Amino acid sequence: MFEKSFSAEDVRRYYNDWNDRYEKSYGNIIQAFRPNNDEALIEDLMISLNLKMGHHYLDAGCGVAGASIPFVQKTNCQISGITISDEQAKKAKQAIRSLGLESKINVMQGDYHHLSDLYKTNSFDGVFFLESLGHSYAPEKVLSEAYKIVKPGGFVYIKDFYIRESSDKQMQKRIKKVIDNINRYYKYQVMSLNPLISHIRKMDVKLDFVKSFDFQDDIRIRSDFETKNGIVLFDGQAEFMPADWYEIKFTKF
Ligand SMILES: C[S@@+](CC[C@H](N)C(=O)[O-])C[C@H]1O[C@@H](n2cnc3c(N)ncnc32)[C@H](O)[C@@H]1O
Repeated sequence: MFEKSFSAEDVRRYYNDWNDRYEKSYGNIIQAFRPNNDEALIEDLMISLNLKMGHHYLDAGCGVAGASIPFVQKTNCQISGITISDEQAKKAKQAIRSLGLESKINVMQGDYHHLSDLYKTNSFDGVFFLESLGHSYAPEKVLSEAYKIVKPGGFVYIKDFYIRESSDKQMQKRIKKVIDNINRYYKYQVMSLNPLISHIRKMDVKLDFVKSFDFQDDIRIRSDFETKNGIVLFDGQAEFMPADWYEIKFTKF
């Protein structure tokens, strides 16, 4: 069900090599599904996350802390970040230092498949994955790890995309081809929604929501990135949506 092909080490090398390319197109928020400006994206995420002053969160797959920095500036919460890429961890630390936010954000290089070895049990008010969980070869294991380090009453939030389902066999074949291309180019392992939700429901949690985003996707940055870097997802065929984007949030009992 969750047969995966890329290791965390593959993803580490990928982001070390590609971080500059991402920064050139995306700036410091490496998120493909976005409204037409960063401010609106941050505002929208903050509504879903409901971050609180003084609370401590984990940004799991934090990139160069491009989302965590405004989160802290706007709410005065505390954030720990983890990225598999040493290059991103270095860049994140530089940005945090230059803004004098060292006492508020702490980023380290590490693998989110082992969160309970890296952080204390029941220690976070929330853990969020912003377009990062889909890199995992075992997302259900990562969520179980996140569950352990979240306090009772704390949440886990996931922004990601899931293979689109179609009753038309031909269409499903085309979807699969494009998803294979996405996985190959982006070192991703696009998830299926139902098995993930089923796993979450077997944990001792309240499923707060599974919902679509309130904003319209602006594809300009993603297109720019793909054109500049020779990424061809549709093999010259007409484009269509091969995946659906959802926000998922659950709270630990
Ligand atoms: C598309 S980027 C998103 C970055 C960030 N969330 C943002 O909003 O800018 C995916 C992130 O997931 C991280 N990631 C992927 N696999 C990981 C793993 N096994 N452990 C920790 N981070 C991981 C990558 O290092 C990268 O920072």
